[in-house]
Amino acid sequence: MDLELRDVPVLVTAATKGLGQAVAEEFAREEARVAICARSADAVAAEASSLRKLQGDATGFPCDVEDSAAVRELIGKTVEVFGGLSSLVVNAGGPPVGTWKSCTDEQWQHAFDLTLMSAVHLIREAEPHLRASGKGSIVLISSTSVRQPIHGLLLSNALRLAVQGLAKDLAREFAPAIRVNVVLPGRYRTDRTLQRAAGYPGGIEQFVADESKDIPLGRFGDPRELAKLVVFLSSSAASYVTGSTCTADGGLIASPL
Ligand SMILES: NC(=O)c1ccc[n+]([C@@H]2O[C@H](COP(=O)([O-])OP(=O)(O)OC[C@H]3O[C@@H](n4cnc5c(N)ncnc54)[C@H](OP(=O)(O)O)[C@@H]3O)[C@@H](O)[C@H]2O)c1
Repeated sequence: MDLELRDVPVLVTAATKGLGQAVAEEFAREEARVAICARSADAVAAEASSLRKLQGDATGFPCDVEDSAAVRELIGKTVEVFGGLSSLVVNAGGPPVGTWKSCTDEQWQHAFDLTLMSAVHLIREAEPHLRASGKGSIVLISSTSVRQPIHGLLLSNALRLAVQGLAKDLAREFAPAIRVNVVLPGRYRTDRTLQRAAGYPGGIEQFVADESKDIPLGRFGDPRELAKLVVFLSSSAASYVTGSTCTADGGLIASPL
C-alpha cells in the first residue's frame, strides 16, 4: 500500500526515545520530511542525525512540550524549515507514577501540564498550518488507561480521559480539514516501562514476564508495531478515519469497545 507520505512535512514530539522515536523513524522510512523534539538538545541532535540517514531533510529542535512559548517556537521553526505542516503526532513523556496516597499537588499540576496542556498548546499552534495543508492529521499517543485504569498510574488514568475528550471534540470541530485520532499503546518495552518496573520483585525481566501473562499475544509490543499504526492513521490511506481511538495492545483490554 502506498501511504503517499513522500516529502510530506510531519512533526513528532517527544521523539528521541521509545514510541515517539519509533514513529519518527517509520515516517522517515516512508520518506516523509520529519521534525522531532524532546528536552535534551544532545539527544535531539543525535536522533535528527540518525533520521537523516533514512530521509535527508529530517530535523529536530529542543523543546519542553509543557512550555507554551517553547511549543510556539517549535511549530514556527518546523514550518519555517519545511514550508508547512501536514501531520502532527502529539506525544510526551508519561506522567509520574503514583497512587491516591502518594500523588502531591505538584505532581497533579505537572501531569496536567504534561499530558493535557501540551496537547492543547501543540494543537493550537499547529492548527492553521494543518488546515492550510489540505490533508491535515493529528494523532495523539495516549494509553489503554482510558479503557481500563492501570494500578499505580493514577495521574495517567485521570488525565488521559481529558485528552480523550479533547480529541473527540476536535475531530468534529476540525472536520473535514483535519482528521484527529488517538492511539492507545498497551505494554511496550521502553524506558517508561523500566520506570514502572522500578522496585519490582525480580526486576524488569520478571515484570515483563508477569505482565505478559495477561496479554493474549503473550508479549510486550515492539515500538515499531505501534509506529506503523500511527503512520497509517496519519496517511491518506486513512482518509475516512477521524474521531477514532485505536488500541494496539496485543489484546490486553478485554472491553468490547
Ligand atoms: N511504553 C509503553 O508501554 C506505554 C504504554 C502506554 C502509554 N505510553 C505513553 O506513551 C508516551 C511515550 O512513552 P515511551 O514509553 O515512549 O516513553 P520514553 O521511552 O520514556 O520516551 C519519552 C520521550 O519523551 C521525551 N519527553 C519527555 N518529557 C518531555 C517533555 N516535557 N517535552 C518534550 N519531550 C519530552 C523524552 O526525551 P527528553 O527526556 O529528552 O525530553 C523521550 O524522548 C508516554 O506518555 C507514555 O506514558 C507508553
